Amino acid sequence: MTRQLHFNLFLMPRGHHEGAWRHPDSTRRALTDLELYVEAARIAEAAKFDAVFLADTLVAPNNGGLVASGAMEPITLLSALAARTDRIGLIGTASTTYSLPYTHARQFASLDHLSGGRAGWNIVTSWAPQAGLNYGLEQDVGHGDRYAIAEEFVEAVDALWRSFPSEAIHDNRETGQYLDPSLIQPANYNGKHYRTQGPLNVPSSPQGRPVYIQAGQSDSGRGFAARWAEAIFTAHLGKETAQSFYSDVKRRAVGYGRRPEDIVVLPGISAAIGSTTHEAQQVWEELDALTSPQIGLARLSARFGGHDFSGIPLDRVLTRGDFPDPTQVEASKSRATGYVDLALKEGLTLRGLLQKLAGARGHFTATGTPEQIADIIEDWFRTGAADGFNVMPPIVNKQLEVFATEVVPILRKRNLFRTEYEGGTLRSHFGLKPVEPKLPLADTA
Ligand SMILES: Cc1cc2nc3c(=O)[nH]c(=O)nc-3n(C[C@H](O)[C@H](O)[C@H](O)COP(=O)(O)O)c2cc1C
Repeated sequence: MTRQLHFNLFLMPRGHHEGAWRHPDSTRRALTDLELYVEAARIAEAAKFDAVFLADTLVAPNNGGLVASGAMEPITLLSALAARTDRIGLIGTASTTYSLPYTHARQFASLDHLSGGRAGWNIVTSWAPQAGLNYGLEQDVGHGDRYAIAEEFVEAVDALWRSFPSEAIHDNRETGQYLDPSLIQPANYNGKHYRTQGPLNVPSSPQGRPVYIQAGQSDSGRGFAARWAEAIFTAHLGKETAQSFYSDVKRRAVGYGRRPEDIVVLPGISAAIGSTTHEAQQVWEELDALTSPQIGLARLSARFGGHDFSGIPLDRVLTRGDFPDPTQVEASKSRATGYVDLALKEGLTLRGLLQKLAGARGHFTATGTPEQIADIIEDWFRTGAADGFNVMPPIVNKQLEVFATEVVPILRKRNLFRTEYEGGTLRSHFGLKPVEPKLPLADTA
């Protein structure tokens, strides 16, 4: 079969644009209403998307109350979605800095059982500086430390997920032997940051373990992804950086003895789609009119670890000196670097930068007819920038529906996207090989 695209719905309750919650075309359902998520997941499932994904930052919204935000915990919500969907993968975010491996391993193994093998874990180290305070730490954990801790966390849960193979369950009423204890082994993981003895008390799940997804983009983030990730979410403002990221992570993965196709690279795309380019452009204009610089300023500040940008005049062209050195940022290092590069390259004012980021926070935004959006997707896919996309509709459900019912069929006609699910698991949707019996090596790349 020819190489096929992958689509993951990155679901923000009313849409990705910060003005979407006020737009007449966005869902009126409350952010805590399960039906909101069921409706969107079913649209994606009807279009045969690989997965639906929920982000999570472990901090309360800090935007002056001007954005619809603050919703539900992903594992709980995905467990409910597992019962209301049939085939689509279910990807949840969980933090390696502020969780415990044993609890985490039980929850995700359970989600994989409940969904019949559709679970994926977006492995994050939690960049938001306030997260530490919510977990009783005096100061937030630095960038490098977070990745060192993450290595241990994943090694620990990976060992736990191998500790209780489901083959150990005989459930034999005749003999009275429910389990073969000889097949169940402790994990005995002893790290600097995490220790867990195991074995797990949940048997191995339909996929062996959930699919590993990761989104780090700094040097340490890429190294981590190359070792562990089976899919990568990534944010790019243009094709060139997406191409160099794509080749870099695949090359690094080879350094770990993996094949390039063992990692599915999914840049974000937030597309405003209309029956004409003008109509599509109007979608952005309507959305931009529903937001304010105050929201963007709060977001910008968070990405730079709390730096205050409010003293900068909105209509003056930005200079390097307006930003803290992004290489020293402990919060979202790669995103901070991308923002500085964008502002300087395009000679933006602060207002202009905030406007650029209002749509998709530094992900690629596209504007056009279904045919034009399909062309962009095909181009990135064929020129080494993407294996598929994190689909980030600016308005939910309206723009998601248009993508699902108008863009996807064009790609299907071009023989680039499935007409039916072939397997029942997220691993099979992504075309990934079964879980290896051994842990990946730690010390290359
Ligand atoms: C599509 C996408 C989704 C992400 N979702 C989350 C999330 O839910 N929670 C979180 O703390 N970080 C999330 N991140 C941030 C990454 O985990 C990572 O911290 C960020 O890309 C910065 O990477 P770096 O620390 O390697 O520079 C996401 C990133 C991307 C590209």
